[in-house]
Amino acid sequence: PLITSKDLFSKAYDGKFAIGAFNVNNMEIIQGIVDAAKEEKAPLILQVSAGARKYANPKYLKKLVEAAVEDSGLPIVLHLDHGEDFEICKQCIDDGFTSVMIDASHHPFEENIALTKQVVEYAHARGVVVEAELGRLAGVEDAVNVSAADAAFTDPQQAAEFVEKTGVDSLAIAIGTSHGAYKFKGDPNLDFERLQKIASLLPGFPLVLHGASTVLPEFVELCNKYGGDIPGAQGVPEEMLRKAASMGVCKINIDTDLRLAMTAAIRKSLAENPGNFDPRKYMGEGRSAIKEMVRHKIANVLGCNNFL
Ligand code: G3H
Ligand code: 13P
Ligand code: ZN
Repeated sequence: PLITSKDLFSKAYDGKFAIGAFNVNNMEIIQGIVDAAKEEKAPLILQVSAGARKYANPKYLKKLVEAAVEDSGLPIVLHLDHGEDFEICKQCIDDGFTSVMIDASHHPFEENIALTKQVVEYAHARGVVVEAELGRLAGVEDAVNVSAADAAFTDPQQAAEFVEKTGVDSLAIAIGTSHGAYKFKGDPNLDFERLQKIASLLPGFPLVLHGASTVLPEFVELCNKYGGDIPGAQGVPEEMLRKAASMGVCKINIDTDLRLAMTAAIRKSLAENPGNFDPRKYMGEGRSAIKEMVRHKIANVLGCNNFL
């Protein structure tokens, strides 16, 4: 069934594991993820960005997710990723999403609180849960010194005040991750001390980590081998994600790893089969690559396998 993340997060919190939140844009991506979760007996958060809605058409995406729920029998959360205003959150809630993110993190603190509170009121009245964000998701390369990190990363006291004042159900925090394939210039580094402080001020409360792809070297290498140009890509090491999951991070967001897996497999398939022009062949290879990558992620990094 389509569910909210409430129970998933409380089990993840207690069990010190995390639920994977995967960005979906088309049928093959959804099928690859759902097949993996089915084999690993894992719950899923499928998340849709404004860009995904624009690309695929909201009606198609909704039906594809409904088909995934019906076909797999898995508990699945349908979540809006990075909703930028009240209107898109309202639209998704009205469309049957079970979870929305209001991302007002670029606004001043008080405005972030006010906007988040408005979404929480609308959502909770309809049985929908809300994720918000506090702090800015910049790579550590931007945080060259402590004061820069303090300005961009989530302030623990503010996080506690924010949760208390908004009634939000989960909170995305900034501790050094960033979106995309270029997360660190030097050695990967996350501010676990900050995470520890935030978690200690919010006992039992689910935290969310965006920008949490590991940027698997095998896919970067395949892309580059078959005509791609993705130099110096680097993600969050698996060990850091496991550690975050043990410290109150209940939702781990993954998009870049899906993009890389699909692109690597399609590049390889097209390069090795120059005479093929049946999209089912290379899209099928992309879907299989996503499935294997997500299985690995669920069983070896997130730890939400054998949940059902
Ligand atoms: O947070 C960003 C996600 O990777 C979604 O990306 O807005 O290009 O769909 P998108
Ligand atoms: P990645 O770019 O690391 O996959 O992060 C995705 C994300 O945070 C979506 O909201
Ligand atoms: Zn994100």
